[in-house]
Amino acid sequence: MNMAAQPPADKRDESDRGESDRNEGCRRGFLEDVIRGLSELQKTLPCKYLYDEAGSELFEQICKLEDYYLTRTEAQIFSDHLAEMAQAIGPDAVIIEPGAGNCAKAEPLLASLERPAAYLPMDISPEILLAARRRIHTHLPNLDIHAGVGDFTEDETWAAQPPMEARRRVIFFPGSTIGNFDPDQARGLLRAFASRLNKGDGMLIGTDLDKDPVILERAYNDSEQVTARFNKNLLTRINNELGADFDLSRFAHRSFYHPLRCRVEMHLVSLTRQSVSVAGRAFAFLEGETIHTENSHKYSLAGFRDTLRSTGFVPIRHWSDSSSHYAIHFAEVH
Ligand SMILES: C[S@@+](CC[C@H](N)C(=O)[O-])C[C@H]1O[C@@H](n2cnc3c(N)ncnc32)[C@H](O)[C@@H]1O
Repeated sequence: MNMAAQPPADKRDESDRGESDRNEGCRRGFLEDVIRGLSELQKTLPCKYLYDEAGSELFEQICKLEDYYLTRTEAQIFSDHLAEMAQAIGPDAVIIEPGAGNCAKAEPLLASLERPAAYLPMDISPEILLAARRRIHTHLPNLDIHAGVGDFTEDETWAAQPPMEARRRVIFFPGSTIGNFDPDQARGLLRAFASRLNKGDGMLIGTDLDKDPVILERAYNDSEQVTARFNKNLLTRINNELGADFDLSRFAHRSFYHPLRCRVEMHLVSLTRQSVSVAGRAFAFLEGETIHTENSHKYSLAGFRDTLRSTGFVPIRHWSDSSSHYAIHFAEVH
């Protein structure tokens, strides 16, 4: 759904019907994914469902936490090197941001670009995206913005973008969102990104770097328990949207670093032996059994540059912080 577009009044009914069909389609897809995930030996839920309106608000709170070094570190790299990044992107570029959330990182970037042609943020979570669109429009009134609500791994979300004439298109993918994908999935996603661009187009992408597990585990087990609320909100969402009866007091948040997989895993642990019903289907949990809800993969600089090379990109340059906790890469499609 392209949020920039408003149908004429006589088309509204048709458009409302379209919207309600889409909502029903989304609910059906959500239910199928939940049933499939809870039926696996290791129960799992896709992390994209963490982001409903409440989940996106909780994620914004996580980004402000002292323990969650990622946002602070990435913001510092942006502020230290914004002019160089703007120069790498060049004038008259269309900026496309999958998983844009509150678009907080795009705004200063857009303001520093020479004559940006348009900004196309997309996110699965409509409320935060539309609020961000309004904010950016107020601050940059001459910028053409088309916000698309949808799943950025699906063709239809990209197909809904308006065709844009531009000297260059650049995918902006900060926030270490690429880390939520397994290495194979990440390569698939980056290949798909490259295939949506033309030779010479660019990508500015943020990756969290592998580091001391103590720092990593603290970031996903914050002392204020915001990450725990973010994780458990997924169960609230399933209860509200799919008619389930998860008792939140019988599940606990757990995050840990998995050194062999170079990732922080986030789980919900069943505190007792119990049965949960989702849309009339029963799922049995043993005491201590978990639902795997998110991965956050950590990369080395060299490893991620290899990933870029193997997915249709040429790494051009990167920027990091003095502790080498985080990196932002600029790459071009070859
Ligand atoms: C880790 S947050 C990053 C947000 C923002 N880019 C930042 O850097 O702060 C991931 C964002 O991607 C969105 N998201 C996750 N999976 C998605 C998907 N498959 N399609 C569209 N949006 C998705 C979430 O709603 C959330 O806003």
